[in-house]
Amino acid sequence: MRNLHGMHKLFIGISKLWGVAQRSGLVKYGEQMQHVDSLSNAWIWVNDGIIERIGVVPELSHNTLAELNSMLPYGVQLSKELPKTKRFIKDSITVSQRFQLLEDFPGIDFKEFVFCGNREMLPGFVDSHTHIVFAEPRTEEFKLRIQGAGYEAIAASGGGILNSAKKLQLLDFDTLLFQARKRMDWMVQHGTTTVEIKSGYGLTLESELTMLRVIAALKKEFPGIIKATFLGAHAFPMEFKGREEDYVKVVIDDMLPRVAEEGLADHVDVFCDRGFFTAEQTSRILKAAAAFGLPAKIHANELGITGGVQVAVSHGAWSADHLEYLGDAEIALFAESLTADGGETVPVALPGCSYFLGIPYANVRSLMNAGLPVALATDFNPGSSPVCSLQQVWSLACTQQKMLPVEAFNAITCNAARTLRLEHHVGSIAPGMHANFIVTTTENAMDTIPYFFGKNHIDAVYIKGNSYFGN
Ligand code: NIG
Ligand code: FE
Repeated sequence: MRNLHGMHKLFIGISKLWGVAQRSGLVKYGEQMQHVDSLSNAWIWVNDGIIERIGVVPELSHNTLAELNSMLPYGVQLSKELPKTKRFIKDSITVSQRFQLLEDFPGIDFKEFVFCGNREMLPGFVDSHTHIVFAEPRTEEFKLRIQGAGYEAIAASGGGILNSAKKLQLLDFDTLLFQARKRMDWMVQHGTTTVEIKSGYGLTLESELTMLRVIAALKKEFPGIIKATFLGAHAFPMEFKGREEDYVKVVIDDMLPRVAEEGLADHVDVFCDRGFFTAEQTSRILKAAAAFGLPAKIHANELGITGGVQVAVSHGAWSADHLEYLGDAEIALFAESLTADGGETVPVALPGCSYFLGIPYANVRSLMNAGLPVALATDFNPGSSPVCSLQQVWSLACTQQKMLPVEAFNAITCNAARTLRLEHHVGSIAPGMHANFIVTTTENAMDTIPYFFGKNHIDAVYIKGNSYFGN
């Protein structure tokens, strides 16, 4: 245990630690979503970005933390490289206080010390569905919709996704990377530390590859996990009108092999919906992708009940997202997937999209009643859901979908991780997991963050144990 070769860091002064688990791999199914484990006066021992041990500081009245609290201004973080063999935290702390600190943490060695200011801490959020590589906002369409135009009508007349594709095709790699990096920052500032990003605004081989290369560049520079999803089948380009099958062929025969060969995608996605890809076309694309080892996460039932859930479940998709339209048959299928070989297809609701487009909200209660692990994501994109904040999604899920705060919390952390099959690495706080933390001054954060909606409650974000921003 006492391995001092790594970079040990001790986080203390955590008044409440939410989302803890005994071991990695936490997923909350159905009613389990109503529970969260927490610790008061917690500490976390981190080695090389991975949580090694979690504990509770015993009574604080006469011990280290109380003394530290009296010495430090509220909200201050101490972070100091320590001399090699010494475990010391700050020159101004007296020797007796130093010994007291060591007694509080028997067997714990650390080179760096982070005092969290007696604030609450949560696991970094997981956003399992985003489209943050895009050229520019579609504010003209926003105004048209305010004046009564429908999302589908705008799309059918060459706007929507095709509008975004036309603009993106004109931009080079560097410009797209610059824009996407900015949006990543917005997300992290709102507490997201793991992100899935889709292509799908390229719609030509070259532009799709460029989008995926931008995601690959973000993966390299971002300390958290980013996963890439190939969404060449997002919409039919105008020039394929009347010969949609030809575009399906382009996706299967030209795009998929190149994407796979260059190792640019972790999953495949298809917009399986009315006016977009049929269930049958989706099925063929998923089959072709599976031959390259790419699992599916698909867009299903945003505009109607069109067989998307059936295709997703029958192909062992890791998730089926949107679900604004959902019947009993779809819910039963999701439930059947719980016993599937590769694990269940996770239903993902995207309330930001329902809010922004004024369409129904996914019936998450029925999904939870069926024992499913519901997840929530932003769907951050320029057309249907321009929201970067999972805190906002958390609040929408509570007020509009009647999820309890704790249910929605589980949906943006451990269950969201499950949609990416990352639950052993992110989404809860347990030994062996990434040290991805959010620090907040908000008290009783579990209920109060979604309550005070519209406010950013995040003071600081740590990714793999390192401060990403804030203090
Ligand atoms: O998830 N529904 C398909 N794709 C995106 C929106 C695309 C767009 O309008 O730009 C979504 O809603
Ligand atoms: Fe989407």
